[in-house]
Amino acid sequence: MSRLRWSEENTIYIPEVDAEHRSLYLLAADLKRALANGAGAEEIDGKVRALLAEVEDHFTHEERLMRAAKYAMIDWHKGLHDTLRKRATLYAGRIHAGDRKAGRELIDFASRWLEDHMAVADKMMGAALRNHRRSRAA
Ligand SMILES: [Fe+2]
Repeated sequence: MSRLRWSEENTIYIPEVDAEHRSLYLLAADLKRALANGAGAEEIDGKVRALLAEVEDHFTHEERLMRAAKYAMIDWHKGLHDTLRKRATLYAGRIHAGDRKAGRELIDFASRWLEDHMAVADKMMGAALRNHRRSRAA
C-alpha cells in the first residue's frame, strides 16, 4: 500500500497544481479511512464520487494549462489521464454495486498511478509551463 501522502518530492513547482495534488491525496486518505472504519455503502459511494469529481476537475485544469502553453506532449499526457479516467470509472461501478474490495483496489491503483504520474509526466509539464510563463513575463 502506498503512503497516500503528498510530499515535497512530488512538487512540480506550479503552486495551483501542487495544491490540487495535495487535495487528491486528502480525499483518497479520507476514503481509505472510511473503508477501514466500516462506513456504509452510501457514504463510501459518496466519497468515491467526490474523489473522482475532483480528479476530473484536476485533469481538465492540467489539460487547459497545457493547451494554453501549446505544450508539445499534451496528447501523450492527456492519454495517461484518459487511462486513469477509464480505470477509475470501472472501479467506481464495482464500488457502486457494493463491492467493498474495489474501494481498496481503487485507492491502491490510483495512489500508485498518481505517484508515478507526478514523478514523470507532471514534472515535465511543470517545467514546460514554467518556461512558458517565464517567456511571457520577459
Ligand atoms: Fe497530469
